[in-house]
Amino acid sequence: MSSKVFDTEKFAKVARRAVAEGVVLLENDGVLPLQAGCNIALFGRSQFNYYKSGTGSGGMVNTKYVIGVREALEVDERFNLNKDLKATYDEWIKENPFDAGVGWASEPWFQKEMPVSAELAAKAAQTSDVAVVLIGRTAGEDQDNSVSQGSYLLTDDEHEMLKNVTEAFEKTIVLLNVGNIIDMNWMEKYNTSAVLYIWQGGQEGGLGALDVISGDVNPSGRLTDTIAKDIEDYPSTPNFGGKETNIQREDIYVGYRYFETFAQDKVLYPFGYGLSYTTFDIEAGNCLYDGNKVTISAKVTNTGDVAGQQVVQVYVSKDQGVLGNPAMELVEFAKTKELAPGESQDFEFVITNYQLSSFDDSGVTSHKNAYVMQAGVYEFYIGENVRSNVEAGIVKLDELKVIEQLSEAMAPVVKYTRIKPVKLADGSFKTLYEDVPTATVDSEKFRKETLPTEMKKREGKSFKLADVLDKKCTMNDFVAQLSDEELCCIVRGEGMSSPKVTPGCGGAYGGVTDSLLEKGIPVACCSDGPSGIRMDSGKRAFAMPNGTCLACAWNLELVEELYNWEGLELRKNKIDCLLGPGMNIHRHPLNGRNFEYFSEDPFVTGKNAVAMLKGMHKYGVTGTIKHFCMNTQETGRHTVEHVASQRAIREIYLKGYEMAVREAGAHAVMTTYGSVNGYYTSSSYDLVTRILREEWGFDGIVMTDWWAKGGKSYHGNNSDMAAIVRAQNDLYMVTSCAEDNTNRDNTAEALADGSLSRAELQRCAANICKWIMEKPVMNRYLERDNDLDVQLASEADDDELDFDKMIDLRIDESGVADINPKEIKTARNTTNMVTVSFKERGDYKLSLTVRAAENLSDLAQIPLSIFKDKELVKMVTLTGADKEWQTIEVPFVGCAMTFFLKLHFAQDGMEINDIHFELVKSREEEFRLMFARMGEE
Ligand code: BGC
Repeated sequence: MSSKVFDTEKFAKVARRAVAEGVVLLENDGVLPLQAGCNIALFGRSQFNYYKSGTGSGGMVNTKYVIGVREALEVDERFNLNKDLKATYDEWIKENPFDAGVGWASEPWFQKEMPVSAELAAKAAQTSDVAVVLIGRTAGEDQDNSVSQGSYLLTDDEHEMLKNVTEAFEKTIVLLNVGNIIDMNWMEKYNTSAVLYIWQGGQEGGLGALDVISGDVNPSGRLTDTIAKDIEDYPSTPNFGGKETNIQREDIYVGYRYFETFAQDKVLYPFGYGLSYTTFDIEAGNCLYDGNKVTISAKVTNTGDVAGQQVVQVYVSKDQGVLGNPAMELVEFAKTKELAPGESQDFEFVITNYQLSSFDDSGVTSHKNAYVMQAGVYEFYIGENVRSNVEAGIVKLDELKVIEQLSEAMAPVVKYTRIKPVKLADGSFKTLYEDVPTATVDSEKFRKETLPTEMKKREGKSFKLADVLDKKCTMNDFVAQLSDEELCCIVRGEGMSSPKVTPGCGGAYGGVTDSLLEKGIPVACCSDGPSGIRMDSGKRAFAMPNGTCLACAWNLELVEELYNWEGLELRKNKIDCLLGPGMNIHRHPLNGRNFEYFSEDPFVTGKNAVAMLKGMHKYGVTGTIKHFCMNTQETGRHTVEHVASQRAIREIYLKGYEMAVREAGAHAVMTTYGSVNGYYTSSSYDLVTRILREEWGFDGIVMTDWWAKGGKSYHGNNSDMAAIVRAQNDLYMVTSCAEDNTNRDNTAEALADGSLSRAELQRCAANICKWIMEKPVMNRYLERDNDLDVQLASEADDDELDFDKMIDLRIDESGVADINPKEIKTARNTTNMVTVSFKERGDYKLSLTVRAAENLSDLAQIPLSIFKDKELVKMVTLTGADKEWQTIEVPFVGCAMTFFLKLHFAQDGMEINDIHFELVKSREEEFRLMFARMGEE
């Protein structure tokens, strides 16, 4: 291989295209695309801090650059930015720098806006053709949005800016640099010409947005969520944000499934909506049903004057029957290629019976716990969104069909009522409430009935993992020889920032102890995700557009191509597994992690995850689909119990995961912090064994979320490893040392008292070993078939850090030198550089006394990377629970007289009260002693 395989420029091009296709144009009176030569007045302080992603682990990518909207416009010679206005902002920002908050999850949802007076707007209007107003928002892990100014609602300053700008300018374009949908009622008040969701587009985000407003890319993004008039209109609002229990009273009626059935008049922009600079005709062709699947054909024609792409969406409207059904459900979609004016493209969509079935969790159809197609009419619609479509055909079923008979799993234990539609004569729907069927069996019963049997050791034989690969023995033979102690260790993942894998990554698992390593089990590595690779060492990685932005592109081929690049980048960094895609359902617009997820719709969610996984699988690495399942809010995320019906769990929350497993062969799953219907997901045998593995055929690894709890709802704790392993959640993530059982888990005790069997541990060990054996880490370790790794390793990468703080340190004869802790900047993404000059060469020790800031939540992650010149010497990750001072000692062996000490903080919230170097052994002294000895001899 001669040319560079991992080419960040090509990566960037695909990412830029993906952002452009994800941008959703809501309104346009003809102002867009912008005319070349136009003078633009750019308003809004987000011109200085484009949000590349949301906050928390899902956005912590240490990227080399971020091109926001202002930077993108500045380099485009076709447009001129109003210089005076720019200068006014430049002056203002000096006094109003970015406020990153203090500590984990404390970055404010918005940044203070520069007041825009009527005079300022009028002055800018005199010399500009159009105004572009940027509005930015963030949220993320541990921090939901709220219905308050600066989060879901605009601030007074933003209102004032919009009022004054729209009054002064004839044409105002509003760009929303946000992670999730926000309140849009302000649109009624102000005379805007165009409004676009540009989302959080990663490091290429501004360029992607520019491509749309310049017309280089004709907008083809479509909403993957319904925008309702008022937050109160979302059916989940009364049950969102509880700290203890959230009841899914809206059942399967999430997003457009609710609005199209019960509340059409509450919708501002329907699901699937988005404008283009051209027009399209979507014509339905044949609709054929062969008893197993429906085939629908369609033709899309560009009827306008410019080239563009259209998204074709296929919906089904099923009769209510006795189960009740949403008025519309998305069953297929596709995106056209770029169609020239007049050009057409034909499509054929295939929809299976399984996709058309509904889950009967009550037995009202006489088929309890089965996917059924009720008798009645199935009407198909095809069009450009859930509202604007044409009938594409009808299938009539005379008799009910049982599509798959299953048995009860994850049924709720709490009694409650859920909504159900009743169709009235005029076609509208009335809301009924019905009792939700509750559990009749505890999943423990199923577990006990299907306990695995112990794998027996082949006497006199010992095997390495490579022997399984080379078919010299079976996985059972290999695992059977692991001792109890080894089994207890292998289910413990280590992290964060384990020195056993690529520095700064989230987790290490597999050969985490010497004896496991001796058996030939290499150490695999995983890293956050989903918006790019997170390496807290400060190493650079590519920051991807967020999940919602990518889903809004409705272009699965493009997403797959983008994730080919992500796969290569993982491979290059020796990371086997990304901790993403995130694929929870946007049940409510306020979920802080919506930006990591795709949509309110399970089909869109599943398809995007499939595309991402296929993309990464091309290079042998994979993604961890998370958070399995139902992480629909961040408030109380590790205590909250989600109560939902089997039907809602299956049709809404699990569907996407099921697609990822069945269609893309998903190979790694992360369970959530929270619990569902009686069990923490990490310990739900129904979820992890019966549904995921037995029903869907999953044969990969399941890991907990970081420091998650196990056990029964409300009673879980961090050390209940036995419950986690019994459910077949293979890996507890993370402990700092597997061998020392630093999390003090109960595995060994449970094994001793019989509440956990050796066979159950062996089953998890086999899952882990099989997974590792099939990943690139195995061949790298064996140095076999690893040409790609060798090639990637030979390609230069740019991991230079920029320095935010320089300190000089001289160590004199005393051999001890203090660094003033006040001089160390511990703010997020800061690298401090200390130029160290020792009086003598030798071995030194760096001691740091550190703790986590008082205001941090226990699950906060605060990493510090310590480098000697370019070499990473140690990574330390405190959690928010580390509130006591602790001293960390880092050996600096064989130091030259001068070198650079670099301290890189990837997050806020670490406090330091002492940091000093101490001489341990002087090289000169060593030489003196050596020469003296030689002299004596
Ligand atoms: C998050 C996960 C993440 C993990 C490792 C947790 O706090 O919920 O999504 O992958 O940390 O950073």
